[in-house]
Amino acid sequence: MANILIFDSGMGGLSIYREVHRALPAHQYFYLFDNACFPYGELSEQRLVERAVELFAAFTRQHKVDLAVIACNTASTYVLPALRESLTMPVVGVVPAIKPAAEHSRNQGKGRIGLLATPGTVARRYTAELIQNFAADLEVSLLGTTELVKMAEDKLAGEPVELARLARILAPWQGDAGPDTLVLGCTHFPLLSEEIQQLLPDVTLVDSGQAIARRVSSLLEGASQTETAPPGQIFCTTVTAKALIQARAFHGEGFGKLRLFTP
Ligand code: DGL
Repeated sequence: MANILIFDSGMGGLSIYREVHRALPAHQYFYLFDNACFPYGELSEQRLVERAVELFAAFTRQHKVDLAVIACNTASTYVLPALRESLTMPVVGVVPAIKPAAEHSRNQGKGRIGLLATPGTVARRYTAELIQNFAADLEVSLLGTTELVKMAEDKLAGEPVELARLARILAPWQGDAGPDTLVLGCTHFPLLSEEIQQLLPDVTLVDSGQAIARRVSSLLEGASQTETAPPGQIFCTTVTAKALIQARAFHGEGFGKLRLFTP
């Protein structure tokens, strides 16, 4: 049995956990979310890298981790090299699914893709290179929004999703000139995919979840699986009333009580 750590600033990693767990149900899962520093999309690159390295060093000192998934595009598009240098286990990053979206748009769409991500991710050099390498022949529009990240957090805390608010965020893409294929380049956004699809019914939504599950499965090929997996363990970096409510979504998926982790 392998110990798999899934990490995000908040609830977004749940969308990745679900895919990984579906592929590999019989392992020990840790979910760590850094709500003390949320939202990552607004942090400077320098702060992000220092925080991620500090958190991972401390977490892996206290818990045996065989593989870590950075279930956060905002972090992965910047901190992966530093994390890989400082850790000995495999680290899988989640980055925007530009390549599959471009293939889909080229073959089945109109050659127009949209990237919906955080302000941090849309500004990264890594993201510009992904677009240059895989979608240079397409029309690519970028939309960076922290408001949508917060709406996903609120949804997980039991608040209703206001469609009118979502429509305002997606307004640049509504109508015939909008993209045919949309990359959900933030792990929070698949948690709102039904609502996004409702507002953009003809657009194909693409995220990285299944590709990450395949990558984790191939890295853990040969690792034994237990017959009954132990309960997942969930940690936050500050205990708040909201985090306790959000953690219920994880309790429903086999995780134990929310615990505080401070580096
Ligand atoms: N879930 C994260 C991502 O995939 C970031 C959200 C945030 O903290 O801004 O980008």
